[in-house]
Amino acid sequence: MIEPSAGSAGTASRATGAAPDAARLIAVGGGKGGVGKTFVTVNLAATIAREGFDVVVVDGDLEGANTHTCFGVPPPPLSLADFVANREEELTKLMVETGIPNLRLIAATHANLAAAQPGHFQRVRLLSRLRQLPVDLVLIDLGAGTHPAVMDYFLVGDDGIVVFCPEPTSMENAYSFLRAAFYRRMRLSMLTHSVRALVTQAMDQRNERGIRTPADLLREIEKLDPSEGGRFAETLRRFRPRLLINDVRTADEIKLGFSVRSVCRSYFGLEAEYLGYVNHDAGVRESVVARRPLVDVHPNCDAAVYLRRIARKVIQSLGPAVVEEA
Ligand SMILES: Nc1ncnc2c1ncn2[C@@H]1O[C@H](COP(=O)(O)OP(=O)(O)O)[C@@H](O)[C@H]1O
Ligand SMILES: [Mg+2]
Repeated sequence: MIEPSAGSAGTASRATGAAPDAARLIAVGGGKGGVGKTFVTVNLAATIAREGFDVVVVDGDLEGANTHTCFGVPPPPLSLADFVANREEELTKLMVETGIPNLRLIAATHANLAAAQPGHFQRVRLLSRLRQLPVDLVLIDLGAGTHPAVMDYFLVGDDGIVVFCPEPTSMENAYSFLRAAFYRRMRLSMLTHSVRALVTQAMDQRNERGIRTPADLLREIEKLDPSEGGRFAETLRRFRPRLLINDVRTADEIKLGFSVRSVCRSYFGLEAEYLGYVNHDAGVRESVVARRPLVDVHPNCDAAVYLRRIARKVIQSLGPAVVEEA
């Protein structure tokens, strides 16, 4: 468990290298736009920073960058887009203050819409550089969809958070997101070309080999290469996506988190964690309009209380960093 830094003095001690441990990296995704990924990221970050941890929020949504707005930060002159376009190498130069102690932002404004998205190796380079930032926690606010660009940020970090709403469309997208995360995670952790090719085949739900479930896939891998089979099972054991339901209005909707967790277990053999829920609250929109986190605008509303409860769980999970190869 890492200790919170003592305000700005803590920031300075980390920045001078007194604490050499790598930053923890947690991505917030969910497949669908508008489910509250940015809202959750901004409020968890503000809560965790107020607990004394040094936090950096990264706007990972190059095509729909808006995290800066939720902090009332004007589009900064330098952003992640400059790193991606190789115009700026030094990530610390991209960090801007948010006005909240211990909390800084790497925005994603001024993306060149004509530029190609960063490739896999460029993304892995970015993630390893984020790990080296002199902070305790990096929270990445992801864009919508299940494109490899989104999934890499989700997978290379620590156990990512999947945000969804209790609506069929959002649930459907959350399952697609979990499915894409599962297969990409498994493919990246396989070492041999033939087994990777098998996982790629399995990603097509109508594949000709008849692989319909992760259990079918594991059987096929074990036939081909037992040591890869063992690695597959071990990766599965360590992969624990965290589920967060946002915008709930009824007690039944809260239970959906348990249903999704059961589906993860029975279908993928995945032990997802139900991190918690946040209720629908008219104050959320108000806070976005005020360009400040809800936990600051209405610290005593139910949604702020639930967000703080979730933030405490995230803080508890900030054990020593384990850096995994992609
Ligand atoms: N718990 C909530 N209660 C009420 N409105 C919410 C809640 N969560 C999100 N919203 C509304 O949904 C909008 C979209 O949220 P946002 O975080 O931008 O989604 P995403 O980043 O997933 O696209 C917010 O601006 C806010 O108005
Ligand atoms: Mg967003």
